[in-house]
Amino acid sequence: MEKLGNDRVLVSDFKQQKLETDAQKNWDLFYKRNTTNFFKDRHWTTREFDELKNCRESEGQKLVLLEAGCGVGNCIFPLLEEDLNIFIYACDFSPRAVEFVKKNALYCTERCLAFQCDLTKDDLQANIQVGTVDVATLIFVLSAIHPDKMQKSLEQIYKVLRPGGIVLFRDYGLYDHAMFF
Ligand SMILES: C[S@@+](CC[C@H](N)C(=O)[O-])C[C@H]1O[C@@H](n2cnc3c(N)ncnc32)[C@H](O)[C@@H]1O
Repeated sequence: MEKLGNDRVLVSDFKQQKLETDAQKNWDLFYKRNTTNFFKDRHWTTREFDELKNCRESEGQKLVLLEAGCGVGNCIFPLLEEDLNIFIYACDFSPRAVEFVKKNALYCTERCLAFQCDLTKDDLQANIQVGTVDVATLIFVLSAIHPDKMQKSLEQIYKVLRPGGIVLFRDYGLYDHAMFF
């Protein structure tokens, strides 16, 4: 609390607007600089989200997942390896990130479809049929979206989700480790 109390510097309105206008360009540059080396593969998803293992309505049902804001695929590739009966749609607004996903040795068109999409603007239905996704994941993505645009992004996801489908998200929180260190 002491540390927070001392932090009184606000980002100027101009800088805030510029960061928002350039968000897509900046993320694309991020992947140009870091390629696939920044985030670690997320091997914790089935441990943290019971729903990923328990949401099939019948044994043998193919699970259809949407990883919204997939980056270079650190979330999807461990899942594809772990669960052979899963199809994953993966989208990101960085064209470079999507290319990295497509170039991954584990990418195969029978099991996944990666495409570019700005969740705050574009129509997910251009690539995904309405009401067909069982589980949508947003892993450290909502924090990258301006609060004013979060609702539109979630409405988009809602449209492609099947009735009773699930949205799983993980993100930064107030007073968490990332905020202080
Ligand atoms: C912290 S990364 C997380 C990537 C991935 N979910 C993972 O678990 O590694 C956040 C991702 O969200 C993407 N992103 C941010 N805003 C977006 C938007 N409006 N539409 C689509 N993707 C977006 C960024 O390009 C970036 O790849």
